[in-house]
Amino acid sequence: MQRPKSSDELMKTLANLNGEIMPLAEVKISALDRGFLFGDAVYEVLRVYQGKPWLQREHFERLQRSLKAIRMPGIDLQELRKRVLETIAAGGFAEATVYIQITRGAYLRSHAFPAEATPLEFLYVQELQDVYRESRLSGVAVITHPDIRWARCDIKSTNLLGNVLAMQAAKEAGCLEALLYSPDGTVTEGTHTSLFGVKGDMVLTAPNSNAVLPGITRALVLRLAKSAGIPVREQILKKDDLGGVAELFLTGTTAEVLPVVQVDGRPVGDGCPGPFTRRLQQAYAEAVAAFVLGSVEPA
Ligand code: PDD
Repeated sequence: MQRPKSSDELMKTLANLNGEIMPLAEVKISALDRGFLFGDAVYEVLRVYQGKPWLQREHFERLQRSLKAIRMPGIDLQELRKRVLETIAAGGFAEATVYIQITRGAYLRSHAFPAEATPLEFLYVQELQDVYRESRLSGVAVITHPDIRWARCDIKSTNLLGNVLAMQAAKEAGCLEALLYSPDGTVTEGTHTSLFGVKGDMVLTAPNSNAVLPGITRALVLRLAKSAGIPVREQILKKDDLGGVAELFLTGTTAEVLPVVQVDGRPVGDGCPGPFTRRLQQAYAEAVAAFVLGSVEPA
């Protein structure tokens, strides 16, 4: 049998486990780690442009919020930030992503928090494989799928089975994302992206709630829209609305601003990326360019 290729062989990666930089393939984590056993863990994904982590403050604030929500105090986020920078520098990464996961540590399996376990602080940097490069121009097809996740989707927890199953259904339908909808028809978000729609000349996105992750890219796109004078409203979209919207687009750390041109086999608007999506893609690209040139984080 052929040995599966390790991720280090497939692309450039570098890990950091509890402060120690090492090849990703050499990271060893206990089988009793509660992240593995219970999904008792939270995570973040950051994008690195030209060696610089983008929207760092926002990602670390959200990590802090997730840690607080799952009652995991005592993580030194300044130290973690330093480790992210050190690992990017050690690997000489330019275009990359950083995955950070904090688990409640390893202890004999028992549901309630163990008194003795020390949290595990794992991160790795991975050279970017931009799977969306072409789709950002052409737009993507998506499916709709029931949202079977839990009642705290605002916590960026590693419990992603609902997202995994929906994304697999999308993949099997030849699509790049699944839009999740609740029993009342509310479209919450994608499996790993936030959703925006355009109705008339208004850009809409679901308000933050327990049902969605407060997307960092979503928040930036809202700010960019406001400063470009594009009217925006935080308002839910229903599954039945999707047939009538002029434009749809997704936002996310790796997706950036991604046009959706087809839902469940039916075209969105005229079936091409629309003008609002294009303007916001442009504004996003400009914000990244300003950051790369001068390290200016968008306001
Ligand atoms: N996903 N909604 C969900 C459910 C997500 O998992 C993500 C991010 C987003 C977009 O959030 P942001 O703009 O902060 O990346 C929305 C990451 C990238 C992932 O799981 O890989």
